[in-house]
Formats: sequence, structure tokens, C-alpha cells
Amino acid sequence: MLTNQILQGQWGCCRAMGGLTGLMVDNSRLCQFARTPYFFPPMTVTTDSPIELPALDPLELRRCLGSFVTGVTVITALDAHGQPEGITANSFSSLSLDPPLIVWSLRLNARSFLTYQNAMRFAVNILAQDQIPVSNRFASSGINRFEGIDYQPGIAGVPLIAGCASYLECSLQSTHAGGDHLLFIGRVERIQVMDKPPLAYSGGSYAKVALMES
Ligand SMILES: Cc1cc2nc3c(=O)[nH]c(=O)nc-3n(C[C@H](O)[C@H](O)[C@H](O)COP(=O)(O)O)c2cc1C
Repeated sequence: MLTNQILQGQWGCCRAMGGLTGLMVDNSRLCQFARTPYFFPPMTVTTDSPIELPALDPLELRRCLGSFVTGVTVITALDAHGQPEGITANSFSSLSLDPPLIVWSLRLNARSFLTYQNAMRFAVNILAQDQIPVSNRFASSGINRFEGIDYQPGIAGVPLIAGCASYLECSLQSTHAGGDHLLFIGRVERIQVMDKPPLAYSGGSYAKVALMES
């Protein structure tokens, strides 16, 4: 049997209003978007599993995660001195349509970590199929990544890299700890769709998207 240990918050995940009778609840956590009244669960829940399983093989875990096909983005921001920063990231995902939210995650030991942690705005540059060199450049360390890169200032000067498939300009909504990464949730404020084929990434290699008839 699994035991759930609530570390923060005073109550569990309550879908039914009836289940709340007599409980003190924090109404600020009542979700207005759900079809039925839904109270957000506590911030952190850990699961103590008595089932003994062998430790995960890190290489096999990478292989398994690599079977999930993603796009490739460069997340851009300005550092404390107003200098452009950019990092290749395929952890980007859509999160919510109303309000419009997206999420991506950054390794805690990335050199540019402080810049992103302090930046109130960032842009998601979704790379096009012909931008493998741009992806490699923004995944390289110890170089000026913007050297030779054509870009335009977006909202508040955050760089938008030329030639991308699309752009999302975001304000930082929140950050959340996630193991050896930090999650960044952004509120989308402006978008541009350029109708170029996107670059894909799978199993550690770049890939093309081949559309199929559904
Ligand atoms: C296709 C691809 C996707 C990547 N996605 C991420 C990501 O989502 N988050 C992350 O922290 N690093 C990601 N990386 C690695 C970073 O781009 C790379 O570690 C970083 O540029 C090195 O940064 P640093 O010099 O600031 O440490 C990715 C690299 C590649 C090639």
C-alpha cells in the first residue's frame, strides 16, 4: 500500500466539495478554471513506496526519455548588465491555454543559471529545421554565443533570434524546484508564427518532422 505524506499544506487533494465539510480551506487555492470545483493540492507530496525496486540505470533512463520526441528552443533573456543570454533547451512545453502559460527547465549548475533566475522576462525561440548550427552554438560553453547570430530586440530588449519557426515572449510567472533542475513558468504575452518547418530532437539526435495523414 502506498502512503502519501503531506509535507506542506493542511489538506489533501479534494475534488468533491462534500469532502470538505467541516474542514478549514484556503479559498485562494480554489481553481476557477476546472469543470467541477477543484482545490489545488499541497505544494509538495512525497510517496513512500514500500515496494523494493532495483535502482534505475541512468543510461537506460536517458534512452527511455530520449524516445520522447521534442522540438528544440533557445531560451533568451537579458543578464543583470543588459547583455543577451541564450541557452538551447528541449524541456520546453505548453502548460495552460487560459491563462497562457508555458514551462521549461534549467540545470541548477548551468553557467547562466543566475541570469535566468533573476530575469523577469524571457523569450522562447522555437528553432526551425535549418537551425541545427544555432542549437549547437547555444548549447556550447565558453564562447560568446551571440557572436555571428542575427537577432532583434523583442519586448524590453529580450533577443529574438532571426529565422526561427515561432516565438513566444513571456514574463516570469513562477519558478519551482525540480530535482537537479529549476522549472520556469512563463506567461505568454506576445507570439509570432513564421510558418517554417520546426526542428525536432529524439534520442540525442536532431530530426525532421514528417507529417502523416491522420
Ligand atoms: C537539444 C538540446 C536540448 C537541451 N535542453 C536543455 C534543457 O532543457 N535544459 C538545460 O538545462 N539544458 C539543456 N541542454 C543543455 C544546454 O544547452 C547546455 O548544457 C548549456 O548550453 C551549457 O550551458 P552552460 O555553459 O551555461 O552550463 C540542451 C542541449 C541540447 C543540445
